[in-house]
Amino acid sequence: MAVLAVVGGQWGDEGKGKIVDLLGAKCQLVARYNGGNNAGHTVTNEYGTFRMHLIPSGIFSPQTTCLIGNGVVVDPKALLDELGEVRASGARLAPLFISDRAHVIMPYHLRLDQLEEASRGRGSIGTTGRGIGPAYADKYSRLGIRMGDLVDESVFREKLAFVLEIKNRLLTCLYGATPLSFTEVYQEYLAYARELAPLVADTGAMAREAVAQGQNVLLEGAQGTMLDVDFGTYPYVTSSSVIAAGGFSGLGLPPNQPVRALGTFKAYSSRVGSGPFPSELNDETGRHIREVGHEYGTTTGRPRRCGWFDAVASRLAVQLNGLAGVALTRLDVLDALPQLRIATAYRLGHEVLERVPAQVEKLQQCEPVYEELPGWQEPIGQVRRYEALPANARRYVERLESLIGCPATIISVGPHRDQTIVRHDPLAE
Ligand code: IMP
Repeated sequence: MAVLAVVGGQWGDEGKGKIVDLLGAKCQLVARYNGGNNAGHTVTNEYGTFRMHLIPSGIFSPQTTCLIGNGVVVDPKALLDELGEVRASGARLAPLFISDRAHVIMPYHLRLDQLEEASRGRGSIGTTGRGIGPAYADKYSRLGIRMGDLVDESVFREKLAFVLEIKNRLLTCLYGATPLSFTEVYQEYLAYARELAPLVADTGAMAREAVAQGQNVLLEGAQGTMLDVDFGTYPYVTSSSVIAAGGFSGLGLPPNQPVRALGTFKAYSSRVGSGPFPSELNDETGRHIREVGHEYGTTTGRPRRCGWFDAVASRLAVQLNGLAGVALTRLDVLDALPQLRIATAYRLGHEVLERVPAQVEKLQQCEPVYEELPGWQEPIGQVRRYEALPANARRYVERLESLIGCPATIISVGPHRDQTIVRHDPLAE
C-alpha cells in the first residue's frame, strides 16, 4: 500500500479524526491537504480528547511524520495555539512540517469573511468565520502571502504593504469598517513567523520521497464531499478541493501513484451551516440524534442539523472519490430508534432523481424518497466483531452498502480507538 486518502463522504464531521488516528499509527506520513482551521477532527486517546483543527490527526503517533500541505490555508496564531495544546498533553508527538507553499490566513481574511457573510443577509453561507474563503480567493487572485513569504522578513514586509493597502480600501470604502494597522499586523505576524520558521519546509518533496520509498502515506481530508467547492452544494460549500483528487494537488503528489480512498460516513447525516439538506429531520428524531450523538460543531459549537442517511449524496461521494471502502461511524447513535429511514432517491415535481442536481435551487425543492428499516434497539458500543452486531444493525449496514455501491470495511460504534469493527484493513495489500 502506498497512498491512502481518508475523505469525508457527507457534509463533514463524519469522524475522520478517529479513523486517521487509528490508521495513522501504521503510516510513515500523515498529511492534511485542504481546508484550514475550519475543520474539527476529534481524537480521543489515553491523553484525553483533542479537537484538532489544523494539525493532522496522526500527531499522536510519534513514529509518523505529519505534514500540512500546500493546499491548506494556515492561520499561524491558531496553529501555535493548537501546537501548545498538544505539546501540553505530555504525549510523545510526531514531527510536524508546514508547506512553504501553503497560504497564510491574515487578519483581513477573518474580517472579510464576517463582513461578506453579513452582506449576504438571508443567503449567508454560515461559514465558520475563520477567513477560509477570503484566503483561498486571494490565493487564486494571486494576492496571497505564503508560509515561505511569512518567514522571510523582507519579502513579508513588501507583500503585506502591497496587499494591506488594497484590503484596507476594501474594508473602509466598501464595508465602512476600520482599516488595519500595517505596523501592528506586521509585528504580530513576524512574531508568529519566528516561532513557526523551523517547521516550514518543502513538504511536497518530503511526500514524493516517502512515496518513492514505498512508505505508507495517509492523506487526511478535511470537510466532506458535499462541501467540495466543485461538487458540493455550491455556493453552500467550503472553498477547497475536498475530494481525494484534491489530495494530489494539495500535497504535490503526481497522479501516477497507487492510491486507495476510504470514505468516512456517519450512519445518518448531519450538516452545520446553511444550504440544502434533503433528508434533514426537524422533529423529535432529529433532536434525539443531535443529543445522543453530541452533534454540536467542533469548531464553532453550533448545533448541527441532523437527518437520515442520504444514499443519493453518498453515492456521488463513492463515485467521485473512487472509494474502495467506507468507514461507517456512529452506528451506535441509532441504537434506540425503533425505525430507520434511508433516502434512496429525490423527488423533484414529477421526476425521480437518482443523482444530486448541480443547482442548489433544484436541490432545495427535492423531497427524499425513503426506504424504511427496523432498528435494533439495543446498545452496540461493546461489539467488536461484525457477526456479533444485532441482525437488524447488519441488515441496515448491508442495505447502505448496496445502495451506495461500496463495502463498509470499518464500522465505528463509539468514540474510543477500540470501539471499532475492522472488517478489512484499508492498509493491507
Ligand atoms: P468555511 O469553510 O468556514 O468557509 O464554511 C463554509 C461551509 O462549510 C459552512 O457551511 C461551514 O459550516 C462548513 N464547514 C467548514 N468546515 C467544516 C467542517 O470541518 N465540518 C463541517 N462543516 C464545515
